[in-house]
Amino acid sequence: MEKWKTELAPADEQNLARAAELLQKGEVVGFPTETVYGLAGNALNPEAVEKIFLAKGRPQDNPLIVHIASMDMLPVLTNNPPELAFKLAKAFWPGPMTMVLPKSDLIPDVVSAGLSTVGIRFPSSKVAQALIQKSALPLAAPSGNLSGRPSPTTAAHMMEDMDGRIPMILDGGPCSVGVESTVIGVGTDRVRLYRPGGITVEMLEEICPVEIDPGVLHAVEAGRKVASPGMKYRHYAPKADVQIVEGSFPAFRTFMEQQKGEGVYAIVFNGEENSLPVPALAFGAEDDPAAQARLLFDLLRECDELGAKRVFVRSPRVTGIGLAVYNRLLRAAAFQIVHLNESGVAE
Ligand code: TXA
Ligand code: MG
Repeated sequence: MEKWKTELAPADEQNLARAAELLQKGEVVGFPTETVYGLAGNALNPEAVEKIFLAKGRPQDNPLIVHIASMDMLPVLTNNPPELAFKLAKAFWPGPMTMVLPKSDLIPDVVSAGLSTVGIRFPSSKVAQALIQKSALPLAAPSGNLSGRPSPTTAAHMMEDMDGRIPMILDGGPCSVGVESTVIGVGTDRVRLYRPGGITVEMLEEICPVEIDPGVLHAVEAGRKVASPGMKYRHYAPKADVQIVEGSFPAFRTFMEQQKGEGVYAIVFNGEENSLPVPALAFGAEDDPAAQARLLFDLLRECDELGAKRVFVRSPRVTGIGLAVYNRLLRAAAFQIVHLNESGVAE
């Protein structure tokens, strides 16, 4: 892989123009979106797309999503999309929703990892839109982390993973959503949820019925074929062993008495962090899943910096964007869940 002196560049006019030029030349650049930072390349150029896979160390069977900045690109990049796709686009674009649709011949096989479909997203981030417009290209972009690491929600986090691997990261400040986009397969009269995100199930249900793919809440058995390859991978994992803990806060506190020791940390709701026998990071209020979404990946990275070996996380509510928080935590925890009874004993 080519070795770069990676530049962290404020997302101003001049740097946006330089980033657009790099993209036109077939290079890849880091950029902010409202969800997480992404690693962009020209979606129509297979060599540029290869560079994305290489820089991330991403498995070749995991397809990329394509970012657009105008509704007109939807029918160009897809093949005969159902009416429902336009209805959803009208309701939720620009925004954190990726629609999986039959791909047009313009989309190279490396982008779709050989599938006949492609994921398309029109981000609401003004910097992302400016980059797409200035480069005049649809941009293939996965999250800008090394494969398997938590997605970056700041330019500095992306730098931790991509330093030396890409020429430039545009810094547009912290991401407002903090978890990746909602990924849905779009049929004629319903959608299937592959990855929950900022466009919630409740919001989608205002438009049409939603089927939740079992991979959203359950581990995919080894070897099983999945509709959305990202569901297979552990993902979002800090170096520590993460476990989700279900039960009341008093039960959690008792349980942590038994767990305490070197490298043991907790991630808890605001206000709980000071009454525990182990160091704890606060995650947002219990009834504020949007805050939890914004903080989750940052906290997972912070656990690594603190040298955490085991991290116990209070189980979040699964309504609204809380489902996205829980879905990412499940993967960070490799689906390990502890259920506590009222005495703080694991059942
Ligand atoms: O918010 C986001 O979606 C961010 C920002 C940068 O836009 N991007 C992102 O990309 O999260 P990535 O590659 O990390 O996640 C895309 C997910 C993967 O789980 C992938 O398997 C799934 O979408 N996906 C992509 N194309 C698909 C397809 N044709 N069919 C099914 N799943 C697909
Ligand atoms: Mg990712």
